[in-house]
Amino acid sequence: MKLFDVYPLYDIEIVKALGSSVWDEKGQEYLDFYGGHAVISIGHTHPHYVERLTDQIRKVGFYSNSVKISAQKELADKIGKLSGHDDYQFFMCNSGAEANENAMKLASFHTGRKKIVAMHGSFHGRTSLAVAATDNPNIVAPVNRTDNVIFVTLNDEQELENLFAKEGDEIAAVILEGIQGVGGIRIASDDYLRRIRTLCDKYGAVYIADSVQCGCGRTGKYYSHDWAGMNADIYTMAKGIGNGFPVAAISIAPHIAPKYGMLGTTFGGNHLACAAALAVAEVMAEDNLVEHARQTGDYLLAELRKLPKIKEVRGKGLMIGVELNEESAPFRKKLLFDEHIFVGSSSDKNTFRLLPALNISRENCDKLLASLRKLLA
Ligand SMILES: Cc1ncc(COP(=O)(O)O)c(C=O)c1O
Repeated sequence: MKLFDVYPLYDIEIVKALGSSVWDEKGQEYLDFYGGHAVISIGHTHPHYVERLTDQIRKVGFYSNSVKISAQKELADKIGKLSGHDDYQFFMCNSGAEANENAMKLASFHTGRKKIVAMHGSFHGRTSLAVAATDNPNIVAPVNRTDNVIFVTLNDEQELENLFAKEGDEIAAVILEGIQGVGGIRIASDDYLRRIRTLCDKYGAVYIADSVQCGCGRTGKYYSHDWAGMNADIYTMAKGIGNGFPVAAISIAPHIAPKYGMLGTTFGGNHLACAAALAVAEVMAEDNLVEHARQTGDYLLAELRKLPKIKEVRGKGLMIGVELNEESAPFRKKLLFDEHIFVGSSSDKNTFRLLPALNISRENCDKLLASLRKLLA
C-alpha cells in the first residue's frame, strides 16, 4: 500500500536525535531550529524523558479513562504551578486541533450560544470546528463550512467592539493565538488581548487562548497571552507539552462547570502521555526553561535584527519569524542542504520560523547566526 500523498517531503530520513541536533541515515548532523513545528521543548531524547517513558511502559502503557489515573492529577498540579493557574481545571486529549475543538465546544455548552469569533491569519487545526475557525479555505472541506465562525482582523479593536455591540449576545467565544504561528509570527498586541478580555466579560463570552504553539513557555511566559497581564477562560495546549509524544490538554477557569460525558476521549491522558508530559514539566521547572527561553530569545532577536537584507524580525522568546524581501523557500533549502540547519516555513511565503528547543544553547544560536550571515552576504 502506498502512502496517501499529502506532505511535500524533504528527502531526508532522521535516524538519531539528541538535544538540538538530529542526524540522517548518512550520519549528517543537522541543527534543529524548528523542533518539528515547535514540538521539541526540552530537547530530543532528553535523558529524564527517556527514563520516565521507559519506566512507565514497563509498568502500564495504557488504560482508559474509566479508571483513576493519578498521573493526570500530578500533571495538572505541575502545569498549574508552572503556568500560575493552580485554580484552573485540567482536561487531557491528544492533539492541538482536539484541544481547540474541545475548548470551543465547552464554550458553547457553557454559554448556550453558537458563534465563534476567530482571527484572519489564524490556524487552529484540522478537525471540524477547529478548521472552520482556521483562516485557510484550502483546508476547509465543504462539510466544515459554517456561518457560526466570524473572522475579524487581528489587533483591530474597533472592529471587535462593533461586532460585539451587534451580535454580542450570540457569541460563545473568541479564540486566538497570542502569537500567530502558521500565519507567520504575527503578534496580538497586549491592548488587543485586554480588549478581548473586557468584551468577553461584558457580553458573557469565553476567551480561548490557543497556546498550542505559543504556550509551554516558548515566548518567555508560560502562555504568550500572559504578556498582557490577564487571564483567559480556557487555554489550549499541545506540541511542546509532550516533547514529541502526542499529548494535548485544556486548562479551564473555575467558573466553567464540568458535567459527566460533556467531553471525552479514549486515548487522552493515558499513562504514557502523562509520563511524557510530566517529564517535560519537571525538566522545565528544574532548568527554569521559561526564563531561559526569554533570555535566549532576547539575544537571538537582537542579533537577528542586526543582519542585512532582512525586512523584519518578529517574535517573543523562542518563537521568531524572519521576513525576507523575497520568498523564503529557496533560502530555507540552502540553510538545510548547505548549512544543515532546519527552520520552519509559514503561510506567509516570505517569512520563515525559528522554533528551537527551549534549552537551545548560545553556541547553537551563534552557529545559526553565522550561517545566516554567510547566506545573506
Ligand atoms: C496555534 C495552533 N493551534 C492548533 C494547531 C493544531 O495542532 P495539531 O496539529 O496537534 O492538531 C496548531 C498546529 O500547528 C497550531 O499551530
